[in-house]
Amino acid sequence: MNETINKEFLISEINRLRKEKNALIMAHYYQRPELQDLADFVGDSLALAQYARKTDAPMIIVCGVHFMGETAKILCPEKKVLVPDPTAGCSLADSQKAEDLKKWKQQHLDYTVISYVNTSAAVKALTDIVVTSSNALKIVNSLPQDEKILFGPDYNLGNYINSLTGRRMQLWNGACHVHEKFSIEHLIELKKQYPDAKVLAHPECRGALLKLADVIGSTQALLKEAIESQCNEFIVATEAGILHKMQAACPEKLFIPVRPEVSESEMCDNNFSPCACNECNFMRQNTLEKLYLCLRDETGEIFVEPDIAEQAVKPIERMLALS
Ligand code: 13P
Ligand code: SF4
Repeated sequence: MNETINKEFLISEINRLRKEKNALIMAHYYQRPELQDLADFVGDSLALAQYARKTDAPMIIVCGVHFMGETAKILCPEKKVLVPDPTAGCSLADSQKAEDLKKWKQQHLDYTVISYVNTSAAVKALTDIVVTSSNALKIVNSLPQDEKILFGPDYNLGNYINSLTGRRMQLWNGACHVHEKFSIEHLIELKKQYPDAKVLAHPECRGALLKLADVIGSTQALLKEAIESQCNEFIVATEAGILHKMQAACPEKLFIPVRPEVSESEMCDNNFSPCACNECNFMRQNTLEKLYLCLRDETGEIFVEPDIAEQAVKPIERMLALS
C-alpha cells in the first residue's frame, strides 16, 4: 500500500516538475517499464540522439546510461542534460578506453576509425564516424569497398557487418555483458518448442546466435518487426526491457525471452533454478525515485570537456548526416 502511495506521489511530482522546468524526459527501451511509460520519447540510441538534437526544451533528462547522456550533451551543449543515475556505465563502452584507441590507431595509421555509439566522449573524439546498430551497415556501405577500417568496440556487431559486406574491418575485441551471454542451447530449445516463432536478435549477440535469428536489428528495428510482422510468436534475444513496449504494442502476441548462460554460482536463489535475468544492471540503475530527485534537485548533470566535445561532435554529426 505504502509502495503504491509512494509511486503515485513520485509520478505526480515528476509530472509537476517536468512542466515547471520545461524538461524533456527521454528513455531507452532497456529502461524500467515505469520510466518508459513516463517518458516523452522512448527510442534506440540513434533515435535518442536525433530527438535530443531537435528539442527546444532547455533541460533534457536521459533515462539511459552515461554515454547516452554524453551524446545528448555533445549535441546540445547549451542545454542542461541530466541522467537520473549518472554512474550508470556500459560494459561495452568500458571495453575500449581512449588510451586503447590511441594505441590501436598508432598501429594502423591509414585506417578510418568507426566507433559504435556505446563509447565514451573521449573515444568519440578520436573517431572518424560514429555508428549505432540502426545505421552501422548503411554507414559502412557508404565508404569505398577498399577503405581500411578500424571498428570498435563491439566485436559482434563488427563481425556481423563484415559478414554482410564482405569487408575485413579490423575489430576491437569488446562485448556487452548482456548480449554476449545469451544461451544458444536455450534458443535451440525454444525454437523446437515454438517452431512458428520468429527469432529477433540484437547484433551485439554472438555470431553463432545471430545465425539462428530471423531478424537482426537495433531495439527499434526489432520492435517494428514485432508490430508489423504477421507472426504471432517471437523469441527475443536482447535486453528484456524491450519486451515491455513489444507487449504493450501487441497484447495478443507472445514474446519469449532467451535466457542467458549461467554458471552454478550465478543460479538464482529461488530453488537453484537457472536465472532468467537478461537485464542490463547499468540500465536498471535509473529508478522512479532517482528520476524524481534528479528533476527536483537537478542532480546527475552531464559535463563533457569542451575540447573533447568539440572533437566528439564531428563523428556524431557525420553519422546523423548519413542516417
Ligand atoms: P540500440 O541502439 O539498438 O537501442 O542499442 C543500445 C544498446 O545499448 C544495446 O545494448
Ligand atoms: Fe551497454 Fe550492454 Fe547495457 Fe547496452 S545492454 S548499455 S551495451 S552493457
